[in-house]
Amino acid sequence: MLDRWTPEAPQIRYPRAVPLPTLLTPRLRLRHLARGDAGYVVDQLSDPTFVEFVGDRGVRSEADAIAYMERGPWATYAAHGFGAWAVERRDTPGVIGMVGLYQRATLDAPDLGFGFLPAGRGRGLALEAAKAALDWGVEAHGMRRVLAITTDAHRRSQRLLKKLGMRLEGRARIPGDDEELRLYAYTAEPSTSA
Ligand SMILES: CC(C)(COP(=O)(O)OP(=O)(O)OC[C@H]1O[C@@H](n2cnc3c(N)ncnc32)[C@H](O)[C@@H]1OP(=O)(O)O)[C@@H](O)C(=O)NCCC(=O)NCCS
Repeated sequence: MLDRWTPEAPQIRYPRAVPLPTLLTPRLRLRHLARGDAGYVVDQLSDPTFVEFVGDRGVRSEADAIAYMERGPWATYAAHGFGAWAVERRDTPGVIGMVGLYQRATLDAPDLGFGFLPAGRGRGLALEAAKAALDWGVEAHGMRRVLAITTDAHRRSQRLLKKLGMRLEGRARIPGDDEELRLYAYTAEPSTSA
């Protein structure tokens, strides 16, 4: 799925000063989420579907959005060398969504998350972006197991996760979230090049 990316040897953790590499897919550009994306982050995190299925992060202003990026995507990146990308269409300016790999204290492997603005949905773009992020985690970061969590009611997310090759593994609870969630897992095939 990836057209081009910045190759790195497997298992190498990215130096923290270097932003996430830009990933290109047939229709999309995934790039490091930056301060300039604060307006998009406000729109995304206050989108009603995002609030319904992911939760209300209380992000209402660009200052809130920067604080969110500092404690979420950028903190994960600083600690682990992976985080979230802003997703743009290659043929149209403007961020349409975000996809990220996160490391939660209560999960035994990184988990994949995604959120798209209404205009970016229904075209397979979230799937294309999620596949690029997953491939990067596996191929560039050496991840052998990648998780995803979603609610029982979120059929769209479940369909996307199944298309990625993720399997329903069980249930999970995330601190601060009352609802028990579905836990999906992707297991990478052992590398044949080793
Ligand atoms: C979850 C979310 C990312 C799913 O977005 P999505 O656009 O439905 O997902 P996909 O990229 O897999 O696209 C699938 C749809 O695109 C259609 N599609 C159109 N062209 C396509 C193409 N070239 N390739 C694949 N699918 C295509 C599919 O038929 C499908 O439509 P359908 O569901 O009506 O059958 C989106 O609903 C969202 O951002 N929600 C808010 C945040 C959120 O819930 N995040 C997940 C928390 S667990």
